[in-house]
Amino acid sequence: MGKKIAVFTSGGDAPGMNATLRAAIRAGLHYGNEMYVIYDGLEGLVGGEIEKVDKLFTSGIINKGGTVIRTARFPEFTDVEIQKKGVEQLHKLGINDIIGIGGDGSYHGLLALSKLGVNVMGLPGTIDNDLQSSDETIGFNTTLETICDCVEKLKDTASSHQRCFVIEVMGRYCGDLALYASIAEGAEATVTYDKKMPEEELFAKIKHIKETRKSHCLVIVSENLLDVNELARKIQENTGYETKAQVLGHLQRGGNPSAADRILGARLGVRAVELINEGAQNRAVGVLNGAVSDMDLEESLNKPRVPNEEYIKLLDILSE
Ligand code: F6P
Repeated sequence: MGKKIAVFTSGGDAPGMNATLRAAIRAGLHYGNEMYVIYDGLEGLVGGEIEKVDKLFTSGIINKGGTVIRTARFPEFTDVEIQKKGVEQLHKLGINDIIGIGGDGSYHGLLALSKLGVNVMGLPGTIDNDLQSSDETIGFNTTLETICDCVEKLKDTASSHQRCFVIEVMGRYCGDLALYASIAEGAEATVTYDKKMPEEELFAKIKHIKETRKSHCLVIVSENLLDVNELARKIQENTGYETKAQVLGHLQRGGNPSAADRILGARLGVRAVELINEGAQNRAVGVLNGAVSDMDLEESLNKPRVPNEEYIKLLDILSE
């Protein structure tokens, strides 16, 4: 008989989590595994919210945003006694292999479980694109499209009123959403973790834009870096350009996943199951240089982040 495998989603939801879950369940059933889902992430694991599922469970979820098995932030999981309770719940059902779809926090939860003897596979489900085990995370592409859609709407009103907009986008402590959206939308200025701009330089640039009578000015800023309302006030004061701040917030996480995210989820979901059946232990599965790959989970968490120098250079040239 095939192994019993449980799948959960954890941390912030990301478009494409359902497509990934579907892929993992269907691949597991294809290879003769018994498949389970854990509701409400690691919190649900500790509470024993685990259910055996069949193929029907995956019906109609491929294109749905959010996660049908729900998710949770569960900081209490850093406590080893709580982790042990989660392991007990798995043991009750004879499960020793789990697939976690989530971001950095979820990977740390998986790592803790691996130290207690559970075999774990991490799948990169986060809009932030901040995992070093994959060039792109599941949900990033959809969120980028959502941001572009919002920025274009703001551009319409900005041009009509000749205003400057400071737009804050998500990404936790990773600037990729801001960087990619700035390239895709031709933003006039960008402030991210990998590309900071001294205020004086920013004001001088915006002043120049105002002088050229350009109808709008968009400044895209990564969250958790600065107060965008305060920045908008300072821009207006220092440049005379009427400026408003807009935080895109949780709108960025919703919506149907793009085809690219569904396909990424399909590739990684299937691979995670194959790795378990091949006897692989504690891997972070992702796409590196276009190919599906996997690396030791702990190693992936210690891998330093490499800024995307090519995109930063592109932005420097194109936003001059
Ligand atoms: O990790 C995904 C993310 O959306 C981040 O971009 C953001 O910083 C955070 O989650 C917001 O978390 P919450 O939904 O718990 O407020």
